[in-house]
Amino acid sequence: MPSIPPLSRRLFLRGTAASLAMPFLARLAPAQSRQRPPMAVPGQYSGEMRDGARHFDLKIADGETRFFDGVMTRTRGINGSYLGPVLALRADEDVVMNVKNALSEKTTLHWHGLNIPATADGGPHQIIPAGTTWSPAFKIREKAATMWFHSHLLGKTAEQVWQGIAGMMIIEDDQSDALALPRRYGVDDFALALQDRRFTRAGQMPYAPTRPDRMQGLTGNVPLVNGTVAPYLDVTTGLVRLRILNASNGSIYQLGFDDGRAFQMIASDGGLLAAPVEMTSILLAPAERAEIVVPMAASEATMLRAVLRGGMMGGGMMGGRGGGRAPSFDFLELRGAVRLTPSPAVPATLAAPDILPALQGLPTRRFELEMAMGPAMMLFGGGFRINGRAMKMSRINETVPMGQPEIWEITNTSPMAHPFHIHDTQFHILDRNGATPHPSEAGRKDTVLVNPRERVRILVRFDHYSDPKRPYMYHCHILEHEDGGMMGQFTVT
Ligand code: C2O
Ligand code: CU
Ligand code: CU
Repeated sequence: MPSIPPLSRRLFLRGTAASLAMPFLARLAPAQSRQRPPMAVPGQYSGEMRDGARHFDLKIADGETRFFDGVMTRTRGINGSYLGPVLALRADEDVVMNVKNALSEKTTLHWHGLNIPATADGGPHQIIPAGTTWSPAFKIREKAATMWFHSHLLGKTAEQVWQGIAGMMIIEDDQSDALALPRRYGVDDFALALQDRRFTRAGQMPYAPTRPDRMQGLTGNVPLVNGTVAPYLDVTTGLVRLRILNASNGSIYQLGFDDGRAFQMIASDGGLLAAPVEMTSILLAPAERAEIVVPMAASEATMLRAVLRGGMMGGGMMGGRGGGRAPSFDFLELRGAVRLTPSPAVPATLAAPDILPALQGLPTRRFELEMAMGPAMMLFGGGFRINGRAMKMSRINETVPMGQPEIWEITNTSPMAHPFHIHDTQFHILDRNGATPHPSEAGRKDTVLVNPRERVRILVRFDHYSDPKRPYMYHCHILEHEDGGMMGQFTVT
């Protein structure tokens, strides 16, 4: 049996965490000077222009990935052994996705963040049987943004995403072209899929959540960036743009740099903010994206670190336990080159803010996120519900009129934070327990973290497609919760 060579425990997971200290980690030699590997930069894939549409060929297949020297890990990927290419898309273009399922089981592929017809959404109803190809066609209706795609098979989303069935998309438009932002992919503009995965001593990462994992969301013991274990990235420009996706199953990351440096946040889930927001730390829940521009000096190094948040009682599942410091992952070390090419300053204005309709008289729809606690939780597999109901394929929970702005009021009565995601829309956060959200949350969003005892109001509208039969999903994006039933269905009519 191959065994992972001694690795620095510190390299992976900082802080004490009984629940995370897997046998494999417990046996690791104390901190050693293992070299960080360079970060994988996934190839950008812009498809082929044919008959006025951009065609993409995507193949989902089993693979083997070399995360550690001398160990091949069984994984799944899209046009590769783990995760997928970065799809380069253009606003207003027509695309055709040819998604071939080369697995020995069914899957789906969902375009997270896009406003698209229900038949093209790739949710639990658009099954791709093993050995077949699914070819949805749709128009890119979003503005410049960083989106992603992933498996969305009912009850198996967590497992298939864990195995690697996910990838990122970058949309550009005329407006983003004209801005003096770093936008040379792989030079000063990078897509970062942040994940943590739980590896066994043999270097495999089977999807094997325990009952507490199903309740809390599965968190791993090894940080991956684009499938590279705890890498570094050489920076050659004065400013570097990082398009960060939390692609983990269940971890909420409080992200910042170890030296506390400030950076500019320029975009949220649905694209550019009206103006950059200076931050030193960003809270990013599963499925959320943040684009940041980080200043670098020659020959210096800084660490992109994530402290784990969330969990039971909202205080951090591990941090709250045993009183230790919350564990963290040192995801990526940025290393400034000896000489840096200067970058133009980040523009003071980025995009015209969306004009929201007057709220008065708008219909309100209410969603209550619940977890059954105590024995009920054990009996009902977590008891994850929205408005008292667990997800059922045959039940349409909500019917929403197309083009009608609505206020959706999401209340969390459970002791954990839940990232609430809605398909087919980019919405705006109105308030959290009545308070105006931070400027970093003022832009377009498709996922919003709802804390325990919080009531979040958002403004939602579905602009382009109606279909009385085929539903879209809304759900918690902690994948174990989604699979556990914290999901509902709506049609747009
Ligand atoms: Cu990212 Cu319903 O999905
Ligand atoms: Cu989605
Ligand atoms: Cu949840």
